[in-house]
Amino acid sequence: CGIVGYVGNRPALDIVVEGLARLEYRGYDSAGVAVLADGKLATAKRAGKLVNLRGALEQDPLPDGTVGIGHTRWATHGPPNDRNAHPHTDCAGAVAVVHNGIIENFARLRAELDEGGHALDSDTDTEVVAHLLEDELPRAGGDLAEAMRRVCRRLEGAFTLVAVHADDPDVVVGARRNSPLVVGVGDGQNFLASDVAAFIAHTRDAIELGQDQVVELRRDGVTVTDFDGRPAETRRYHVDWDVSAAEKGGYDYFMLKEIAEQPRAVADTLLGRIGADGSLVLDEMRLTDEQLREIDKIIIVACGTAYHAGLIAKYAIEHWAGLPCEVELASEFRYRDPILTRTTLVIAISQSGETMDTLMAVRHAREQHARVLAVCNVNGSTIPRECDGVLYTHAGPEVGVAATKTFLTQLVAVYLIALYLAQVRGTKWGDEVFAMVQLLERMPEKVEKVLETMEPVRELARSLAGGHCVLFLGRHVGFPVALEGALKLKELAYMHAEGFAAGELKHGPIALIEKDLPVVVVVPPRARAVLHDKIVSNIQEIRARGARTIVIAEEGDASVEPYADTVIRVPAVPTLLQPLVTTVPLQVFACELATAKGHDVDQPRNLAKSVTVE
Ligand code: G6P
Repeated sequence: CGIVGYVGNRPALDIVVEGLARLEYRGYDSAGVAVLADGKLATAKRAGKLVNLRGALEQDPLPDGTVGIGHTRWATHGPPNDRNAHPHTDCAGAVAVVHNGIIENFARLRAELDEGGHALDSDTDTEVVAHLLEDELPRAGGDLAEAMRRVCRRLEGAFTLVAVHADDPDVVVGARRNSPLVVGVGDGQNFLASDVAAFIAHTRDAIELGQDQVVELRRDGVTVTDFDGRPAETRRYHVDWDVSAAEKGGYDYFMLKEIAEQPRAVADTLLGRIGADGSLVLDEMRLTDEQLREIDKIIIVACGTAYHAGLIAKYAIEHWAGLPCEVELASEFRYRDPILTRTTLVIAISQSGETMDTLMAVRHAREQHARVLAVCNVNGSTIPRECDGVLYTHAGPEVGVAATKTFLTQLVAVYLIALYLAQVRGTKWGDEVFAMVQLLERMPEKVEKVLETMEPVRELARSLAGGHCVLFLGRHVGFPVALEGALKLKELAYMHAEGFAAGELKHGPIALIEKDLPVVVVVPPRARAVLHDKIVSNIQEIRARGARTIVIAEEGDASVEPYADTVIRVPAVPTLLQPLVTTVPLQVFACELATAKGHDVDQPRNLAKSVTVE
């Protein structure tokens, strides 16, 4: 979910709604706002995307006020209807609350409130907070921040809460446990939001809130305490991108812009990390070379697209760094008994740095005394804060829900880590490592080249928009690329799509092949003859069974032509780096196919970009 709060001297509603528009990537099942005007609370909320709320506000405007809060929801408790939309209010209609996360003890609290005579009318866990605040306010002497602290001490689970109270009309109060919340510091106005994007048009000065903190926002100041009321330490920082980075810049969709930005994003992630002598400089990682030399095993944890980056990282780490590497879905990790020691390095890959499954895996790893390194795109987010070290990707803000440029930059980051480990540990691949670093620097131009030749891919995608299923095959690092290609198509086009290891196909999934079924095959470079020739055989096997073969192969590879209905060409690069070029046509393919079906590729149904619940 996305949350916004504002206290200032301008119309709060405009600022809050504009902020919500920038946070819609976090969920768009419903949206709502509350403003304080003339000592009264006024709210409006609607199921569906923000546009529905905007329509309702036009028809039925709220009174003008300079204090307000807002919410855009990714539903957890209760279906996404008007009634369950946030803000939620207390019996008196004086307190309004918005929430991101899950309050795990809500059933018990709700029973208690029911008994105490409170009438709750939604299915949400959030509504209990409005009523608990109503009970606590008299005991807190009417002080909303103190009432919030009292309530937070009773809550279990993950929650970011933002509240206003009609009797305290110059204050917005926020509380944070696990889910993100940042303060935007302005002049005579202050902001609260799940992400700086919500207020970047007004200020680039931000304060990061820590775990279990309560913030009181007034026009002229911000006070932060812990849940017991003790003053808390915070970190103030300056955001290094501006509002133009958070806008579409002439593209119809953010996703199109973000696909096009990939050469720059890859270049930015390499920037400053390659020294004049061609060696890698990753001091910012906060792990010393000594610590890295002690590592004897690596475990990568991640979700979704980041998990696919992890699968590719395994090949790079094992090959270059010579270290055993496992990759695990973060949501599964802590439910088995992973063997972790002080010499295990856990790498958590997360674009947002907020994914709850990944955060919980990080905490589990730290409890077992493993060293934990984050690969993350959002500066100061929770996961890197809780890790021993971090390597930031520099993709800039990604708004489209389906990850594109952040995936490519995650790949760059894990290549850098693998090569750096090889450099520090002095593996047998010394010369290759040096050559790879040089080749990495040339990858932005290779990605650019792929982007320049995408028109046939778009045409192909449009021609397949009436289909029901597409399969993706790959071997070695081409296998995770196949998984990513299938995930993009599921996310955006709502089509059945599966990625398989090409060699595994004959052990079952080949039964799915029928006449004209589109099968996309990622072919490794010819230089890896063993891999390459096997996959060319696999293409023949599926073609013999009637599949329509769409083959992604490097320039000059004529061997695939006799068996391919369509060939998509990518520049020749070494096998391990190939995902940087083979993924791009699959992104374009999914985006175009979904657009042809009339879907909103920035906000696919049921998804959210940052999932802060387990
Ligand atoms: C969500 C998004 C995916 C993303 C995954 C992990 O499910 O919809 O696109 O890959 O979370 O996100 P993270 O921010 O941890 O990389």
